[in-house]
Amino acid sequence: MDLTLFVWRQKGPDKPGKLQEYKAKDVSPDMSFLEMLDEVNEGLIKEGGEPIVFDHDCREGICGTCSQVINGIPHGPQERTTVCQLHMRKFRDGDTIYIEPWRAKAFPIIKDLIVDRSALDRIIQAGGYISAHTGGVADANAILIPKADADVAMDAAECIGCGACVAACPNGSAMLFTAAKVTQLAMLPQGRVEAAKRVCLMTEAMLQEGFGNCTNHYECQAACPKGIRVSFIAKLNREFIKAQVL
Ligand code: SF4
Ligand code: FES
Repeated sequence: MDLTLFVWRQKGPDKPGKLQEYKAKDVSPDMSFLEMLDEVNEGLIKEGGEPIVFDHDCREGICGTCSQVINGIPHGPQERTTVCQLHMRKFRDGDTIYIEPWRAKAFPIIKDLIVDRSALDRIIQAGGYISAHTGGVADANAILIPKADADVAMDAAECIGCGACVAACPNGSAMLFTAAKVTQLAMLPQGRVEAAKRVCLMTEAMLQEGFGNCTNHYECQAACPKGIRVSFIAKLNREFIKAQVL
């Protein structure tokens, strides 16, 4: 396939950016989207140009690092798929593809397609953990947890912290991310002990970092590569209200 790419190029955080046109030639449908960009970068390096800077790590959909808006959609056109797991067979010969970084007030651009997502780390640092010393690994059945609760906790724990929910939300809200992290711990007995304190601290950190509020657009759920549902935001709200009356 031969493709035309328009890629966001920006030299630094306070520099102006713009979409720059590139030709990607002989792209195999079996390439991943990032492999296609690797090839474009090889060509740029050979010509003495500056390669396109983009974030990636695991390239297997688990680290949450790859963060690109492809044709206006965070993580691109394939549902429940990270950029690194998106393959070029999803596109057609002659296509024009627009590639941009996450865009949100709380995610300032560092360079080209890389944004600073440390605001999400600071939400976790505010309370997304259990502070008890757990000692050695307990026997599997030492603490009995209802299967239904374990399933919800596991679903919430699927969040990879990519930030696509923030990029998709017109308010730049991190509610889906925070809700997943709060729920994952609130569903389990080990996490319940500090649940009230945790939800208050994490919600406060979320607001301090400049993320917007949720106004039920559901764009976060549509963009999430891990299928995190907005019902977790309802759970976050319930946990928050409960914490106020305790
Ligand atoms: S909720 Fe989904 S979109 Fe948001 S950070 Fe977690 S995995 Fe990414
Ligand atoms: S590079 Fe790790 S999820 Fe895409």
